[in-house]
Amino acid sequence: MDKFRIRGGNPLKGSVSISGAKNSALPCMAASLLTPETVTLHNLPYARDIITQRRLLEDLGATVLTPELRTHKINASHIEIFEAPYELVKTMRASVLALGPLLARFGKAKVSLPGGCAIGTRPIDLHLKGFEQLGAEVRLEAGNVVASAPAGGRLKGTEIRFEKVTVTGTENLMMAATLARGTTVLHNAACEPEITDLCQLLNRMGARVRGGGTPTIEIDGVEALGGAEHTIIPDRIETGTFIVAAAITGGELEIKDCRPEHLSSVIKKLTEVGVEIEELNPSTLRARSKRGLKSHDVTTEPYPQFPTDMQAQYMALMTQSEGRSVIAETVFENRFMHASELQRMGARIQLQGRLAIVDGPTPLTGAPIQASDLRASASLVLAGLVARGETIIDRVYHIDRGYEKIEAKLRAVGADIERIRESVTAPSSGATHQDAAA
Ligand code: EPZ
Repeated sequence: MDKFRIRGGNPLKGSVSISGAKNSALPCMAASLLTPETVTLHNLPYARDIITQRRLLEDLGATVLTPELRTHKINASHIEIFEAPYELVKTMRASVLALGPLLARFGKAKVSLPGGCAIGTRPIDLHLKGFEQLGAEVRLEAGNVVASAPAGGRLKGTEIRFEKVTVTGTENLMMAATLARGTTVLHNAACEPEITDLCQLLNRMGARVRGGGTPTIEIDGVEALGGAEHTIIPDRIETGTFIVAAAITGGELEIKDCRPEHLSSVIKKLTEVGVEIEELNPSTLRARSKRGLKSHDVTTEPYPQFPTDMQAQYMALMTQSEGRSVIAETVFENRFMHASELQRMGARIQLQGRLAIVDGPTPLTGAPIQASDLRASASLVLAGLVARGETIIDRVYHIDRGYEKIEAKLRAVGADIERIRESVTAPSSGATHQDAAA
């Protein structure tokens, strides 16, 4: 398995370009299953989960052309298989996003039930309950979800209220409702920018979706959807990660091709901490921290509040800030895996259930550490950038899932980081059941 070797201490300086959002690319790629016409997606991040999602689409019978690295032309006119197998789902739980489109267009779908992962059990009961409310029959069979539309093949629009805010649950039901008979209203829907991006694609395909990005989404079902062309929004979590990278190293970064309005709660919190963040234009930020940082509490919540996907990166920053911060993780039940690795580097962190109490600043010392999930890996890289000495991070395939060439981007702005590739004779670094985090 690949590792990163980082020698800390270099303030980052220069300019970095943000890639497309993984968590928008994945549902948008799944949406291509809703039509026999070609869906062209631009600005896809060159990250491992996109490659996995492409393989899933091709396994189902779709063709995917890549005229250039970050553009996929997807045509699902010849879908012959309606099943996402365990081998794929275990490496990427977002494969469940194939359920809604397959059920809506073909009236049937079989997807391996994703197991838990490093950050939590992550059930999909709310997805399945929603499909049943749309008239589908859903049953569990040997670890697979088997769903089928009522006789006649079409789902029937209805009102659905999510007991909890669920991002991919909202996306799955929204896609399923686009081809249902009648109108569907989703209440307590997720409001993430990735939902709004998916709505825009669906409407370009001929769907009639209103309210994307708000807690109430209305979908008038149509007979069929067509092809479309769409550019994926920038990744707000990558943007936040690089703002923290500038701050934790005491450097200054110009962060281009981003959408500051998609991470206003992150910008607000980091500004409180003492990071200087300036919007140079609607797609460019400048982040630096010249003076000492002050610790502040934070609570993760669904959008537009502080995102759980930035919690690990924020914790790394709090180890270098003056004072005590209490970090409350309300979205996932086990998302502090990075804390023990940060403690091995010298961080002072106490875990109490859903709370992490961080006292800073503490000098960090490089050490051999292990990544456990996508965002925890980013947190460990950030800690390595400021630690004295050498940090070796193992299992960096976690970070490759959601960040495009992060070590190249960091090296280009002065970080002393390199990838140590696993020896070719080593067994394959295939992800395990627990790795299906994001
Ligand atoms: C999406 O996961 C993201 N993944 C996650 O990003 C992100 O952390 C998460 O939303 C929260 O923002 C993608 O978009 C591919 P949820 P998702 O359904 O949709 C519970 C990353 O790092 N729940 O919003 O799986 C669930 O257990 C990844 O890029 C149910 O109980 O998250 C969790 O506690 C990690 N039943 C909470 O809701 C359900 O049916 C929020 O989960 C569904 C969810």
